[in-house]
Amino acid sequence: MDIPGIPRICNLLPRTGILFLFLMIGFTAFLISCGSESEQSDEEEVAAEAAHPGEKVYKKYCITCHGIDGSMGSNGAFNLRETKLSVEEKIAVITKGRNTMTAFEKVLKPEEISAVAEYTEKFRQ
Ligand code: HEC
Repeated sequence: MDIPGIPRICNLLPRTGILFLFLMIGFTAFLISCGSESEQSDEEEVAAEAAHPGEKVYKKYCITCHGIDGSMGSNGAFNLRETKLSVEEKIAVITKGRNTMTAFEKVLKPEEISAVAEYTEKFRQ
C-alpha cells in the first residue's frame, strides 16, 4: 500500500534528525554558557553591590547597642534614626568614641568607618 506523503517524510527523517541533533547541541551549549556559572556569579556580584558595604560592619559592631534599625538605644546609645549629625560628625564619633560609646579607630579601618557612617544614613526617614 502506497500512502502518499509518508515515504517523503521517511526520506526527510535522517536529515531532520541530524539537524535536530545540531540544534540540541547548540541549545545545550547556550544553556551551559549563560545558564549556570557565569550568570550566577554575575547575580551574586550584583547582590553584593546592592548590599551596602557598611552593612556588614554595622551588623558586626554596632547592633549590640544601636539595634538593627538604629533605634534600640541599649547602654544609653543614641537613636540613630533621629540623629542630627552629618556623616562627617558621625565618622568623628565612631572614630573617637563619645562617653559610653567605644572608639572604633583601633577596630575598624578608616574606610570601614566612613562606610558604616554612610550606612547609618539609611535609618533616617
Ligand atoms: C557599647 C555600645 C555602643 C556600640 C557598640 C556602638 N555605639 Fe554608637 N553610641 C553609643 C552611645 C552610648 C552613644 C551616645 C554617646 C553619648 O552619650 O555622647 C552613641 C552614639 C553614636 C552616634 C552619635 C549619635 C548622635 O546623634 O549624636 C553615632 C553616629 C553612633 N553612635 C554610631 C555607631 C556606629 C556606626 C557603631 C558601630 C561601628 C556604634 N555606634 C557602636 C553606644 C554604642
